Amino acid sequence: MDFLTLDDRHMRVSDAERGALGLDAAHRRLEAIRTEGRQGFFDLPFDLSSAAFLARRASALRRAGIRRLLVVGIGGSSLGARALIEALRSPKRGMDVAFVSAPDPDAYADILPSRTEWKRTALLVVSKSGSTLEPVSVFLALRAALIRSVGAKKHAAHVVVITDPREGNPLLAFARAEGYEVLPHPLNVGGRFSVLSPVGLFPAACAGIDVRRLLSGAQRLEEDRRIKREACLAARFAADQFLAYQAGRTTHVFMPYAARLRLVSLWFRQLWAESLGKDGKGPTPVASVGPDDQHSQLQLYQQGPDDKTLTFVDVERFASSPKVPAAKGADAFAPIPGRSFTDILHAERKGVAEALAEDGRRSATFAVPSISPESVGALLQCLMQAAAFMGELLQVNAFDQPGVEAGKREARKILGAR
Ligand code: PA5
Repeated sequence: MDFLTLDDRHMRVSDAERGALGLDAAHRRLEAIRTEGRQGFFDLPFDLSSAAFLARRASALRRAGIRRLLVVGIGGSSLGARALIEALRSPKRGMDVAFVSAPDPDAYADILPSRTEWKRTALLVVSKSGSTLEPVSVFLALRAALIRSVGAKKHAAHVVVITDPREGNPLLAFARAEGYEVLPHPLNVGGRFSVLSPVGLFPAACAGIDVRRLLSGAQRLEEDRRIKREACLAARFAADQFLAYQAGRTTHVFMPYAARLRLVSLWFRQLWAESLGKDGKGPTPVASVGPDDQHSQLQLYQQGPDDKTLTFVDVERFASSPKVPAAKGADAFAPIPGRSFTDILHAERKGVAEALAEDGRRSATFAVPSISPESVGALLQCLMQAAAFMGELLQVNAFDQPGVEAGKREARKILGAR
């Protein structure tokens, strides 16, 4: 069964054009990066023992009476887990998982547990560097509230930290001194590529998601990349996007037709922007969702400047799909009795792709059979691979983020922090 397919007819790219890009050399460079251990995200789907360990730790928290997890992290330390949980949450099996990323007073007030709720609440702090201002300040405020509620002695059992495990990381030193559980952030994986590491998998396991199934979908895509090499799905997608970018289509709209994949769009936006926006180059990603944004931005995409590509995600089957019931007199305004909601979403998505093509606009469509752990794992792995290929084609380092780090340093200076 294919967890992920790509229809790229409307990108209007020929095999000869793709063949001229040097994708084979790009593949070889990425393989060198992987085998030399310089980048770890490619191998994460095969780390089943780590996934099993994280699932056991999540069950242990539940057995200890924890029913709510507050995840404190920002950017790549948060968006992947949020996307997984929004897509795949299983309220019957898992904890309630909430996220807080910034020291925004209102957002903080909204998530702050009451004195009695703290007994059943755990804090997960995710920061690779251990020094990003936003999460560390929110963490310290939440920790103080936790201590006020459960006491200094008992509070450590409510805190888990995911961070760089090397000596010299001040958050690691603090966590050890306080007796918090520490899960290592893989050293050779950056935030936006970390969704299939403990950063995404631990919160997902706490939410009741089967993380082994997630990895098995991602494995398929990684096998596809290793076997098909420059002809793999991700290379093909990246090649089409690169050619469009070179031709002046510098905005990339990512638009799943599924509300549950809305946060995958936000995750993709970070992946594309932080990985590719450097050295004066890089497409501008736009996070979107269909069909809502058909009624918000499509007019611009269809008939505004021809400087965009659109990537849709089609879900073939939803867990349930109501039908439009017949109603006397309703034929005049809704002449579709008996058609399912899924039929309508599919018709909308196909109609938009066709209409865009008629106006010469470029689009591609990923399709997943359903929103399952396997298909979401496959989609995310494919997009990370595509970002890596795009980096090679654009000749930028997809795995660093010097601009983000510069902003962090300036903010610390303004606050008088070291
Ligand atoms: O993808 C990235 O590397 C960034 O978005 C980081 O995840 C983000 O800046 C947070 O950094 P840290 O995990 O060090 O707190």
